[in-house]
Amino acid sequence: MKIALVGYGKMGHMIESSAKAKGHEVVATIDIMAKDATNLVAAGDGKALAEAVKNSGAEGIIEFSHPSSVIGNLKTLIPLGLPIVCGTTGWAKSEDEIEKLCAASNNAVMRSSNFSIGVNMFYKIVEEAARLMAEYSEYDVAVWEAHHNQKADSPSGTALEIARRVMNGNKSKTEMVFDAFHERPKANELHVSSTRVGFVPGTHTVFFDSPADSIELTHRARSREGFALGSVVALEKLSAKLADGSLSKGKLYGMGDLF
Ligand SMILES: NC(=O)c1ccc[n+]([C@@H]2O[C@H](COP(=O)([O-])OP(=O)(O)OC[C@H]3O[C@@H](n4cnc5c(N)ncnc54)[C@H](O)[C@@H]3O)[C@@H](O)[C@H]2O)c1
Repeated sequence: MKIALVGYGKMGHMIESSAKAKGHEVVATIDIMAKDATNLVAAGDGKALAEAVKNSGAEGIIEFSHPSSVIGNLKTLIPLGLPIVCGTTGWAKSEDEIEKLCAASNNAVMRSSNFSIGVNMFYKIVEEAARLMAEYSEYDVAVWEAHHNQKADSPSGTALEIARRVMNGNKSKTEMVFDAFHERPKANELHVSSTRVGFVPGTHTVFFDSPADSIELTHRARSREGFALGSVVALEKLSAKLADGSLSKGKLYGMGDLF
């Protein structure tokens, strides 16, 4: 498959290696700053971005840029009609707007805050664990994540999805709280806390805590390669499923739709 990469930073470079290792051709690497990109475009110049993708002959797009750029990029890329995998995090509030654009353009976007297969399995484990533990009211639950100090958003998109899965399993938690508490937490509040330090590629823990004991479920990414490989697999599958009709165009998809 011919792939255009939008955003050629740490993830973009890693995705290029994973894509090539799987026999794909990376026909464009597009960035606003990276000197080794095939195409440098000015931030917000949708016309130049669209031209770069169209001229490359790409059959699919993988977007890993920056939370402040992703919506502008998607608004430019979706109307081009190529399947899109988007790994940039921090835009959950704009999902409705992007889904409407997918419908209007009859195109599909696969987005995930975490493309690693292990994390997607962890989501399922957490939801089931929260459901089991919810039967025992003495157990409280909280979510914690740690990432490297270059990450621009918090909490991580993965932590948000984990928190959603906890709330699916435990209906007594109805509200997420990301800030520090200045009073005792209410029983319906789910604390989702973040640490930014050093080089951590991504650690997520769910705590179940009772007076008698504590259970901690942790997913620890060892490197970012799992995200890169997962995003390439996601584009392969999205493209194949759109072609054979098992996924329809006009929608925003998540990794759950592939399993
Ligand atoms: N979904 C996942 O599995 C996953 C995994 C890792 C990282 N991420 C997310 O991916 C994003 C990128 O991560 P990274 O580590 O590669 O960051 P990075 O800072 O190393 O690279 C981002 C690149 O995007 C470029 N960029 C910014 N605005 C742009 C624009 N408008 N058009 C084109 N390029 C633009 C920057 O110049 C930079 O080179 C972040 O949001 C991060 O949280 C997601």
